[in-house]
Formats: sequence, C-alpha cells, structure tokens
Amino acid sequence: MIDEILRLKGERNAVILAHNYQLPEVQDIADFVGDSLGLSQQAAKTKADVIVFCGVHFMAETAKIICPEKTVLIPDMKAGCSLADEINATQLRAWKEEHPGAVVVSYVNTTAEVKAESDYCCTSSNAVKIVQSIPKGKEILFLPDMFLGAYVKEQTQRDIHIWPGECHVHAKFSPKDITDSMAKYPRAELLVHPECGCTTNCMYLSKTFPVKMHILSTEGMIRRAKESQTKEFVIATENGIMHRMKKENSEKKFYPVSEDAVCRYMKMITLGKVLNSLKNMEHEVVVPEETAAKAKKSIQRMLEIV
Ligand code: 13P
Ligand code: SF4
Repeated sequence: MIDEILRLKGERNAVILAHNYQLPEVQDIADFVGDSLGLSQQAAKTKADVIVFCGVHFMAETAKIICPEKTVLIPDMKAGCSLADEINATQLRAWKEEHPGAVVVSYVNTTAEVKAESDYCCTSSNAVKIVQSIPKGKEILFLPDMFLGAYVKEQTQRDIHIWPGECHVHAKFSPKDITDSMAKYPRAELLVHPECGCTTNCMYLSKTFPVKMHILSTEGMIRRAKESQTKEFVIATENGIMHRMKKENSEKKFYPVSEDAVCRYMKMITLGKVLNSLKNMEHEVVVPEETAAKAKKSIQRMLEIV
C-alpha cells in the first residue's frame, strides 16, 4: 500500500501533509508533519498540484483558502473538529453586534465562514504574538477555545472577551491529572497544550512550586523535547504526538497524562483512505469564493505574525 501511495503521489505531483496527531503510519508516509501553523506554511509554499491533507477539515479548508489554484484532498470528509463546531458564523455575527468596534481573533480551529467574519486568525503557536500586535486599548473577542483564551489573556493582560468553547479531548485534562502525573515522574518536564482544561491551573502550579513546565503548540512541544537536557517528559495533549517525540529522541522517555487523550477525528485518516484519495482524487475540499476571499485576509495575518 505504501509503494502504491508513493507511486501515485509522484504521478499526481502531490504532497502529503500530516498533523502531529495523525496515526503513526500516516505520519511516516507524509512529506511534512507539523502543527497547524507549520502545515499552513507548507501549503503556502508547495509547488505540488495536489495537497493530500491528513488532518481535520478546518486544516484542509485553510490550505484550500491559501492555495485556491491547487486541488486539496482530505482522505475522510467526516474528519471534523469538536472545537471548530463550537461557534458558527451566525453566532459570531451576533457576538460582534454586542461589541461594536471590537477586534475579532479566531483560533485556526474554526470553519471558513467564521474566519471570514474575523479580523485575525491565530494558531496555538502565535496567539500571544497576534494579540500583542493589536493596538493597546482595543476590545478583543477571542474564540472559540476558552482555555487558550484564558492563557492568552494571562500572557498579554489585554481586554479580551472569551467564547466559552472547548475541545472534547483537551478539556478533560484536570489539575489532578497533572499533579498525579508529576508526583509519579518528579524529574520530568511537563509539556502542556494551551487548549487543555488544566492550563490556568498549570500556570498557577508553576508559580507556586517548581514544576518545569512549558505551554506550547504541538510543534513547540516537539521542539522542546529535542532541545531540553531533561530525559523525561509528561505530555498533556493528544497522544498521537508521542510518535514523533519517541522517534526523534530514542534516549528520552515520554509519559502521557492520560491514555484516553485520543482525537477520534484525527484517527479517521488511515493509509487505505490516503491511497483512495490519490487513486480517485477524493475528497475534494471546496470553499465558496466569497467566503475564501474574506477568510484569506485573517489567515494572511496569521502567516505574517509568527
Ligand atoms: P496545534 O496547532 O498546536 O498543532 O493544535 C491543533 C489542534 O487541533 C490541537 O488540538
Ligand atoms: Fe479539534 Fe480537539 Fe481534535 Fe484538535 S484534538 S482536532 S481541537 S477535536
């Protein structure tokens, strides 16, 4: 199957992009594996005619908006995101009406329609920088993740209203899960994704007793695992990330905070479906032109501020 995927990839002049949460075997056949920002950057610079996007729908949609002239395929159309479903364009328009003049910062985990209603798009790796780039004194609406929103608000001390959305995988991480794991692995460094339900408590924890903690995007976590002198890490995010961590750091140990931290949407993409995508040019991601044009402005700002 892998040989056939690679043959068809050449024949179609395709590139395979995969998110850090993808199944190990899918990550292993990809040309690039990364976080939301990295994948968008790769889509922006690829010379390929076809992008096979091994991730969830909003990520493939973002690639299509960046490269409208390319064919963007997602191996399974049902690979959605519970966080992106937390707010739609009608709800955002109503929220904007309540706060006229506010600047809208949307996390990349949103639909194209929501991005089209936004001023800035951000990912977990540049959310703080994007908010810092907005003139001081401006009211800001941040959506849809409340834990990332709380983290950004704490870091920037800005006037931010936060939409009460959450990701079903990350919201489940509790402060107790973290303290239990750190008690079990006291020499470990703690790496936390800012979508986690324990984020604000982790910030407090690191101030009150010496936990070596970093709140990072998935790619930031992978970088940290490589660069740190520490040999053990406790990981609070979706467990697919551990494939690359282990592969790239065979001498280090990685412990998940929760064995259940699995995103069922990310895991819908299989090698068989990737092969089907390349064979039958399925399933093509389409974004209406008007929506794409509006959404592109907020995405471009995301790509400019890194
Ligand atoms: P990253 O951009 O950090 O990879 O996060 C994307 C995501 O969906 C996290 O759940
Ligand atoms: Fe969406 Fe959560 Fe899955 Fe990330 S882990 S893709 S936020 S449902």
